[in-house]
Amino acid sequence: MAEPGRILITGASGFLGREVCRRLAGAHLRMLSRRPGGEPWIGGDLTDPGSLRGCCEGVEAIVHLASSPGDGPGGGEWGRSHHRVSVEGTEALLEEARRAGVRRVLFVSSVRVLGESTPPGVALPEEAEPAPVSDYARAKAEAERRVLTSDGPEGCVLRLPMLYGDAPRGHLVLLAALMARPWVPRLPDRGNRRSMLHLEDAADAVALLLERWPGRGIYHATDGVAPTVEEVCRLLAQRQGVPAAGWRVPERLLRLAGRFGDALGATTGRRPPIDTARVRSLLDWAWYDDRLLRERCGFRPRRTLGDSLGWLRE
Ligand SMILES: NC(=O)c1ccc[n+]([C@@H]2O[C@H](COP(=O)([O-])OP(=O)(O)OC[C@H]3O[C@@H](n4cnc5c(N)ncnc54)[C@H](OP(=O)(O)O)[C@@H]3O)[C@@H](O)[C@H]2O)c1
Repeated sequence: MAEPGRILITGASGFLGREVCRRLAGAHLRMLSRRPGGEPWIGGDLTDPGSLRGCCEGVEAIVHLASSPGDGPGGGEWGRSHHRVSVEGTEALLEEARRAGVRRVLFVSSVRVLGESTPPGVALPEEAEPAPVSDYARAKAEAERRVLTSDGPEGCVLRLPMLYGDAPRGHLVLLAALMARPWVPRLPDRGNRRSMLHLEDAADAVALLLERWPGRGIYHATDGVAPTVEEVCRLLAQRQGVPAAGWRVPERLLRLAGRFGDALGATTGRRPPIDTARVRSLLDWAWYDDRLLRERCGFRPRRTLGDSLGWLRE
């Protein structure tokens, strides 16, 4: 742990932030939020640099988790918001950190900056060429670059895959609801694997990096299982006692539906249930190599998706 200094956590009120704060309980924490409670919370909005003034005073290390929600229709206000929060907000935070003499910044990013991985897995992070495919991923990639090249605090990047917890959340809920209906066609089986990680293991990865601090670099954390999307669907159906449908939706039809959703989202400004990004999350490979974190920091994830589906009833 970066003791005895204080640790500033941005995004502390979020899904992962709450778990990280639990995991670091006992450390000297300061939490940043746009809607702070009392101590140890402080107010600050990354899109308003003036509101960050003084947030880094006396801080040794920053865990920078704050981010705009990843999902949304592409471009427009949504894209600008990612840029404002992830890129300009990170720059403003780095400036404050530089002024206050903060030594380290751990930036939590996403494997999505890499785009689709190449089966069977990808090269080690240092060798991989980022190819972000969304506003969210592009903004994260640019923020990573700024953190790693900062002439202020030493920057380290932790890229996470989709996180799951012990409660229903996000895409898994939608997929589970679909798998509960035996007449819903199965997805095309492309054999595509997806890395994932339990929330508690993600918080452990953050704590480990702070504790062992391997220096400037990019680290991936996954639970090491990377099931195929077909396996995930089968598991979700099985846990609900539902036999899987005997037919599959053709891949072309699914991709067409995604494009139709994009057009709908662009006209309405609201994200439809299906769009290209969601279709890609079902069809693309997203299998990432977490060896660096295991080798350099001794990261050992303890949970798998299969252990964490208690919320699904047969
Ligand atoms: N969840 C996942 O599956 C996943 C996967 C890969 C990577 N990640 C990364 O992990 C990090 C945490 O994700 P999460 O799911 O916990 O996010 P989340 O639940 O959506 O929380 C987002 C946090 O960001 C803060 N925030 C947003 N805009 C802000 C602004 N303008 N100024 C200050 N704070 C702002 C919010 O704080 P207030 O509302 O209190 O201000 C909130 O605590 C993110 O960087 C995300 O990209 C998450």
